[in-house]
Amino acid sequence: MHHFAYKNGSLHCEEVNLSDIAEAYGTPTFVYSKRTILEDLDEFKHAFAAIDAHIAFAVKACSNGAILQLMAQRGCGFDIVSGGELWRVIRAGGNPALCTYAGVAKTEPEIRYAISSGIYCFICESENELREIDRIAAEMGSVAPVAVRVNPNVDAHTHKYITTGTNENKFGIDISRIESLYADIATQMHHLRIRGLQMHIGSQLTEVTPFVMAVEKVAPIVARFKETYGIEFWSIGGGIGIVYDGCLDSGKKEWWDSHPEQITIKSYAKALIPLLKPLGLRILLEPGRRLVGNAAVMLTRCIYEKKGEAKTFKMIDAGMNDIIRPALYEGFHEIHPVREHPAGELIVADVVGPICESGDFQAQNRSLPDVKPGELLAEMSAGAYGFSMSSNYNSRPLAAEVLVDGSSFSLIRRRQTLESLVSDEVLPNS
Ligand code: LLP
Repeated sequence: MHHFAYKNGSLHCEEVNLSDIAEAYGTPTFVYSKRTILEDLDEFKHAFAAIDAHIAFAVKACSNGAILQLMAQRGCGFDIVSGGELWRVIRAGGNPALCTYAGVAKTEPEIRYAISSGIYCFICESENELREIDRIAAEMGSVAPVAVRVNPNVDAHTHKYITTGTNENKFGIDISRIESLYADIATQMHHLRIRGLQMHIGSQLTEVTPFVMAVEKVAPIVARFKETYGIEFWSIGGGIGIVYDGCLDSGKKEWWDSHPEQITIKSYAKALIPLLKPLGLRILLEPGRRLVGNAAVMLTRCIYEKKGEAKTFKMIDAGMNDIIRPALYEGFHEIHPVREHPAGELIVADVVGPICESGDFQAQNRSLPDVKPGELLAEMSAGAYGFSMSSNYNSRPLAAEVLVDGSSFSLIRRRQTLESLVSDEVLPNS
């Protein structure tokens, strides 16, 4: 459940009217609800209380320092995939000793940085990489903690760009080869210490079955590795899906009561705990989207409208550089006017941005109230892979970010200035 709802005819985040935020900081602006994030963290904690489970928040979903700080203060660890993410976590007060470092192409400087920072574990994705970390650790006079990402070859039934656990994907090591690889690490790579095993089958999974299938498939290997190598953890990855279509209504309990099929933290935990508990080791969870996705909206303003022969367009001041999900994955995000319109009066329109690309839309053929130029809109479910995937394409400054806490709000990222847009560029001969 999230805390975005209409109150007195205007869309609010917790107790704050979104139009007040737009007035203070302009648009486009990402607005996060602290209460939503904290409640979801609590839900994870309670749902998994029966086992030794820990959260490693997937930083790639949302890497703003204020959000990372919130997670760190609640004792979370972090799933990182670059030296840059590790740096951000440390800057926000996160503990490197609670960081797992995944990714298929870690570079030598990144590996050195992670070893010297004392991360909890490398999550390795190829034999090549393991040998490289072994070599670097030896040079540094160190022993690097490692786990390998096993690819269980389970279809996650999600978009093809975010399926990761089949043997068609670049991620991990095939399940058929994992045992011989661990034997090689143990016998040949003397500067590595086997600490655990990891898997992640995909993102935005809307049912628990693929998770159950993957856990059932890999659990016997985990048990053998515990016996043989004394591994202390199994990370089962992230991937719990959120509500995109129906997002606004899902802020109410009644919506959940009438959608029992929707995956929840509880149903995920309930299905997996019986399979995980007998293993008797630390379980890491790597949620990204589930912790922040429904906890934010992107505030944008409609600036023009145009009626063509075939379509009506509403032009907004946010583009695919701000949220790329519709263009890249045909991602669906609900769009609601901040000022509440009377129920029932809808038109069909495309909501498009200022970028010079036909792919620059946030919604196509969407039923929505007939919003007029000047009106504020909120694009829902924008907290995960929203700002973190944004870019400067078309020389558009990055959006602002705001964190709401009850009836107050604070800026957690200033809107980028034109000066900072070019601050790393070098003009020859000047
Ligand atoms: N762990 C690993 C190893 C991952 O690769 C990912 C996401 C996660 C955890 C977190 O998954 P989550 O709980 O957020 O589903 N940009 C795409 C999603 C890419 C996900 C990449 N890996 C999107 O906007 O849908």
